[in-house]
Formats: sequence, structure tokens, C-alpha cells
Amino acid sequence: MATSSRMIFNAFTHITPGHHFHGLWRTPWGMENPYDELATWIRIAQRVEAAKMDGLFIADTMGLFGAWGGSHRVHAEAAISLPADDAIIWAAALAAVTKEISLGYTSALIQNLPYEFARLAASVDRVTNGRSAWNIVPGSTLSAHRDVGIDEIPSNADRYERSHEYLDVVFSLWEGSWAMDAVVKDVQTGVYSDPSKIFRINHAGKRFKVEGPLISEPTPQRVPFLYTAGVSDNSVRLAAQYSEAMLIQVRTPQDAKVMVDKLHGYLREFGREPEDVKVIQALHFIVGSTEEEAVRKQHEIESYVNPIGELVEAAGILGMDLSGYGLDDEIDISAAPGFKGIMGEATLGAGVTTATPRQIASFSGVPPIVGTPEKVADAIEEWHEAGVDGVNVGDYLYSHAFIDFAELVMPELQKRGLAQTEYAEGTFREKVFGAGPYLNERHPAAKLRGTFTDSIG
Ligand SMILES: Cc1cc2nc3c(=O)[nH]c(=O)nc-3n(C[C@H](O)[C@H](O)[C@H](O)COP(=O)(O)O)c2cc1C
Repeated sequence: MATSSRMIFNAFTHITPGHHFHGLWRTPWGMENPYDELATWIRIAQRVEAAKMDGLFIADTMGLFGAWGGSHRVHAEAAISLPADDAIIWAAALAAVTKEISLGYTSALIQNLPYEFARLAASVDRVTNGRSAWNIVPGSTLSAHRDVGIDEIPSNADRYERSHEYLDVVFSLWEGSWAMDAVVKDVQTGVYSDPSKIFRINHAGKRFKVEGPLISEPTPQRVPFLYTAGVSDNSVRLAAQYSEAMLIQVRTPQDAKVMVDKLHGYLREFGREPEDVKVIQALHFIVGSTEEEAVRKQHEIESYVNPIGELVEAAGILGMDLSGYGLDDEIDISAAPGFKGIMGEATLGAGVTTATPRQIASFSGVPPIVGTPEKVADAIEEWHEAGVDGVNVGDYLYSHAFIDFAELVMPELQKRGLAQTEYAEGTFREKVFGAGPYLNERHPAAKLRGTFTDSIG
């Protein structure tokens, strides 16, 4: 396989005691590597980098997941995204101890005001020297909305409309408020930047009013590398419009192919090309030098997993309190707020509208691939053949999963030409696309360059 078709491999985590699999913080590895110590993440990031993986991707969620039996008792006891820290801060902290990996973070569009976020993200792009990546998610929990003064989750259409305006503001600040040649640093004249090339954006929309300019000067990528996540129609359209890598979690390579085809259709609608957006699937692995060792690891690890945790998280994403149902009760979930995406149609299949809590618990995670590095690489190859460009490696064994993947699986993937053996020069965007550090001209943010005229002096 040609090196040009190499895939992208990110370690996919969340700064919390249990990401998708709850209870693993109390494994011996978890006790030695607590999530809330920077030293843990320094060790992991450096081993991920030594193996030439592409990045560390830190998920985030704001607010509590949906209630269970009317309360959040189980969330606290089983540590279901509670406690959890802000991803962007941890991504920034790891900049100083890594040189090549991308440091990705989720920041929901309701989390900060757009100006505030644009400045935070610019700062992270600078401290990482252009290795930052932002996962754009609308932000869906009721609790998160109530934390920012919104009493009820707005309709889907309303949330996406707000998202587009938010993105318009941050893109205008990053791409429009400083001309490409605004920073002159002329030692002779003593001029640092040219005031005639720094512009107010004067945004006055339905939800935001932002004057600008951004006071951070342009950063190595100008705009962080852009991810979007989700598989509903709205999410795929958002990806086609704005993202450079769409994160998905579907159950089979065939399902991934459907997503890739759908994305490519929408990309044409938005005047972008199929090569503009990579598709990255989330997968979990349990690797051993023999099949038996891998299965032994799985049994050991699963003895620590809190089984209710997965169901509570899945029900939270679906937007239903399922505590009153038996594990095998058939429930109509078609009207649930989260049905259109990961938790519904996309994984159940077209036309299927009911599921049992037992099935729902397994929707949020694709079953782990268990076996030798060769077996894992074979499975990854199948996803690649279906059009998937990369894998977000999940933390099924808590953070130890990244060490196993980096040290056992990466060499096999490299042997097959599926993974890079060296880092390319430059920013994360250059490493992924092999072109320049900035968004290409087909991206809507790039079209904002040079469009503002209200200069500051
Ligand atoms: C690989 C992957 C990573 C995700 N990371 C986050 C995250 O960090 N924070 C978050 O709120 N949602 C995250 N999501 C969930 C999506 O944001 C959510 O699915 C989206 O809001 C709508 O999803 P849907 O289109 O699948 O319904 C992630 C989804 C996938 C597939």
C-alpha cells in the first residue's frame, strides 16, 4: 500500500475517571495513572508520539448527562463524565512536552462566547506551534444549557442555526480580522503591525454581536484543524460544510461506507472536494501477543466495568431516562431527541424504531476488536478499504489502551504502510493534507480573508 494512503491514528480520551467504560479508574493501571495528574498524560502523550501516532484527541462534555431514575446519584458513584475537566486546558498543557503530535480538544458551541473561544483557541494554536485541533460540537445536554442560562434544549434546527452563526463569528475573527501581511515586525521603523490591515468584523446577528478585531495575532494555522463529530444527517452536513475530519462511530465498515458516500454527496453541494474531509472512525482494541492473552485481558478488564455506566451514558446520549424499564423491554425510541444520530437510525438501520435497554447500552460503543496485532491490523484494513481514513483509538483498557496500541499495533500498521513511520514537517494541517498550513480556498472560512474593511487605524 502506498504511503500516501496512510491512515491517521489518534488516542481518543476524556479527562475524567471513565470515558466510555466506567469503573476502569480502579484497575491497577488506573490507580497508578490517575486521570487528574498531569504526569499521567505527559507519559501517555510521549509514548503516543514515540510510536508516531498522529495525535491525542481529548473529548469533552459540558454539564451532567441525562438523569437516571430522576437523579444523578449513579453518575457521581460510577463517574459517568463526572468529574470532568475542560479539554482545551489539558491540550495546551501537553504542548510543552511534545513536539509532533496533534493536540485535539472538544469545545461545545455553547461553552464560551465566540470571541472568548476564538482567543482561547488562537492561544492554543500558538503554544502548540500549529498542532491544535478543535472538535466542533453543538453541545446537547440539558444541564449544559442550564449552566449558560438556557432553560430548555432548543430545537435541532435552532441549535444548528446558532452553530452556523457562532462559526461565522469565530472564522471571521481568525481569518478576517488580520490580513495575511498585517504583522510586519519592522525593526528599522519600529512598527510591529500595520493598523490599516487589522479590521473590526462588526458582526451583528440574531444571537451574537461582536465588534472585533481579535487581539491575538494570526497563529501558525490561523484556524485550528477542524473536526466535527456525529452521524446524524445534520452532523454530516455540518462536516461537509466546515470540517477537515469527520469523526464517526458506526458499527461496521459497510455502515462507514454509507457515511463516506453521504459526506461526499454533501461536499459537492457545498463546493468542496472529497479529499477536503477525512473520515475517522472510533474503535476499541484489546491487544495481546496471542489471542489467549488478549481474551484474558478482556475478561480481567471487564470485571472492573460498571455495567450500568454504559447504559446510563447511552440513555443520556439518546435523551431518555430508561431507569423504569427492564433490560429486555422493547421501547419505542423514535421520538427520543438523540435518535437521529449515533443512538438511533444510523446504528439500528433504516426503518427500525424500537430497541431494548440491553441493545441501547451497546450502541454507544462499537464492540472492541480483541486479538493479536495482526488481527487488529486486519480489522483496521477492512475499515480503510471501506473509505475510512483514520481511527480514534478508544480507551477500553483505560489509558493503557493507548500504550498497547502504540507499542504493539503501530509497528504492524507501519509494516503494512497503513501508518506513518516519520512525522512530516509543519503544522497538523500540513501533516494531514501535505499542503499549506492554512485552510484551503474551498473552505468557507478561507473566503472571509480580505472581506473586512473597517480597519482600526
Ligand atoms: C468519535 C466521536 C467523538 C465525539 N466526541 C464528542 C465530544 O467530545 N463531546 C460531545 O459532546 N460529543 C461528542 N461526540 C458526539 C457528537 O457530538 C454527537 O454525536 C453530536 O452532537 C450529534 O450526534 P449525532 O449526529 O450522531 O446525533 C463524539 C462523537 C464521535 C463519533
